Amino acid sequence: MSEGISPTAMRTLNPSEQTPQETYKLLVGSVVPRPIAFVSSMDAQGVRNLAPFSFFTVASANPPIVCFCPMVRGANNNNLQSTKDTLRNIIATREFVVNIVSEEFAAQMNACSADLPPDVDEFEVSGLTPLDSELVRPPRVAESYIQMECRLEQIVHVSTESLGGSLVLGEILRFHVREALLDNFRIDPDKLHAIGRMAGSTYARTTDRFEMERPK
Ligand SMILES: Cc1cc2nc3c(=O)[nH]c(=O)nc-3n(C[C@H](O)[C@H](O)[C@H](O)COP(=O)(O)O)c2cc1C
Repeated sequence: MSEGISPTAMRTLNPSEQTPQETYKLLVGSVVPRPIAFVSSMDAQGVRNLAPFSFFTVASANPPIVCFCPMVRGANNNNLQSTKDTLRNIIATREFVVNIVSEEFAAQMNACSADLPPDVDEFEVSGLTPLDSELVRPPRVAESYIQMECRLEQIVHVSTESLGGSLVLGEILRFHVREALLDNFRIDPDKLHAIGRMAGSTYARTTDRFEMERPK
């Protein structure tokens, strides 16, 4: 809190009077912490791709649907296409794997977020290990304790503007869960070590938790 500002003072901000970058900063600082979908996909020629997405959540448990949002890449971003490889691959092949990110391989996950041309295989860049999936062509990340094989359910193209994005919904066909984490379908968070994304280069751990029963 800045000196001299009343703790209850509010500022009202109008997105239509801000730059998209300013609005982006408000969003990623407000919607925290965000879980991270580490998405493996493949293009039609079989080139592998791996990238993290923190605009990620569950849309339905019956059927099991997860969703995440590849944004439109801004202009002059290393001369790469505005459509991210992940989205282009999923439009072409309708398959992907969501790998849950644990602190143990956070640095390798981060390496996969570099702006790389479509022909670069992020498994090779990061040193992470591809593991064959059962039902889809994109491989899983062996280092991840929870991997979800997904088939595209639908894509909502929300905005094609710079910093706009698409909502990708995928049905989970298979969960693969490290045996040591699993107890009667419950996942042990102390073993998962999941991390979340805050704004900028800040991350959150899931080790500081508290309990609260829901009202009956
Ligand atoms: C932790 C983390 C979360 C990210 N979340 C998103 C996201 O939700 N949407 C997005 O478009 N980019 C996100 N990015 C950036 C992408 O990972 C990055 O643009 C990547 O190069 C896209 O790869 P692709 O072109 O191979 O699909 C994130 C990066 C990091 C490190």
